[in-house]
Amino acid sequence: MTDQPSPAAFRERFPAFADSVHLASCSQGALSDALTAELFEFQHTIREHGAPWGIWMAKVAQARELFARLIGAGPDDIAVVPSASEGAYQVASTQSWHERSRLVTTDLEFPSLGHVWLAQQGRGAAVEFAEQHDGIVDAEDYAALITHETQLVSVPLISYANGLRFPVRDVAALARAHGARTFVDAYQGLGVEPVDVTELGCDYLVSGSLKYLLGISGIAFLYVRPGVRDAVSPPLTGWFGRTNPFEFDPRHLDYPAHARRFEAGTPSIPSAYGAVAGLTLLHQLDASHIRDHLTGLTGQLQQRLLDAGETLRSPLDEARRGPLVALRDRDPDALAAFLAERRIVCSPRGDVLRMSLHYYNNESDLDTVVRAIADYRVSQ
Ligand SMILES: Cc1ncc(COP(=O)(O)O)c(C=O)c1O
Repeated sequence: MTDQPSPAAFRERFPAFADSVHLASCSQGALSDALTAELFEFQHTIREHGAPWGIWMAKVAQARELFARLIGAGPDDIAVVPSASEGAYQVASTQSWHERSRLVTTDLEFPSLGHVWLAQQGRGAAVEFAEQHDGIVDAEDYAALITHETQLVSVPLISYANGLRFPVRDVAALARAHGARTFVDAYQGLGVEPVDVTELGCDYLVSGSLKYLLGISGIAFLYVRPGVRDAVSPPLTGWFGRTNPFEFDPRHLDYPAHARRFEAGTPSIPSAYGAVAGLTLLHQLDASHIRDHLTGLTGQLQQRLLDAGETLRSPLDEARRGPLVALRDRDPDALAAFLAERRIVCSPRGDVLRMSLHYYNNESDLDTVVRAIADYRVSQ
């Protein structure tokens, strides 16, 4: 790709950097001028047209198409869903657990997905967790659990908890070799690194708009590999799950062959506007270019924190780490509040403070946060 914006030019699109440091893309991406404009445009459509369903449906289609292109899929392979959890539910509820009852996940899975998987126990699923050892889960940990009784294997691209990069391709190959399906939660990586569903070899992939995809909450996207058959038709359905949503026939339940069979009610239209803003910004960049920028910055942040005597929960190995640095702390909420007073936005979770990086971050952000953490330690 030629003429890609530099990190400095990209940063200019995010006004908050004028007076703050955003290190919380793992939670909510920074607000861009494009996002502000799209959200304004949404309001304008109502003010101007009243109830412009045609315009809104075109915006949802645009979001679907931009997302599909980002992961090397086609628009018909994508269902627009309200959240990653609901995407996971659509997958879980359409599996049969009779012949193959096992569902393999990991304790570094985002809890909400883990909860969706556990709730399948009521339908006969046996849920097993590939456990972390010192913050790492290897392909071997999955291999020990995947058998010919496994129906579904769930593997995050990158863990929300410590930034561990999972060996998704290896796990998907293992699953396939045993006749099982693979579900990938790409929420903590898609947007800042290349993702291609064919290369990953997964059957399902989910991600939402508000974090590294630089949109807002209320919308997520579920990729379903063409040819995947449901054992059970999606029980959570609605007019958007029909072959023609605008047919309006309450007596007729048909499911299209493509991924839209997993849709239900009206999608969040403002969120679709937000998704288009973020995805359009990201499509100006080659994802490997973003990843290269972040590989350097993440390594620097880790090293500077280690040099300052801090303890990290993230893997140090470049091949195993994503764009998130998890710093161990006694009271991450208090540390986050101290940083927030200095207009540094980070994300506390459990016993870590998460600092996550996007293409808009630079070395001055690292200087600011490392210095502020040192000040915090002195103040304690
Ligand atoms: C890896 C991962 N998956 C999923 C989610 C959110 O899921 P949902 O869209 O269901 O709220 C998060 C949010 O923090 C996450 O980090």
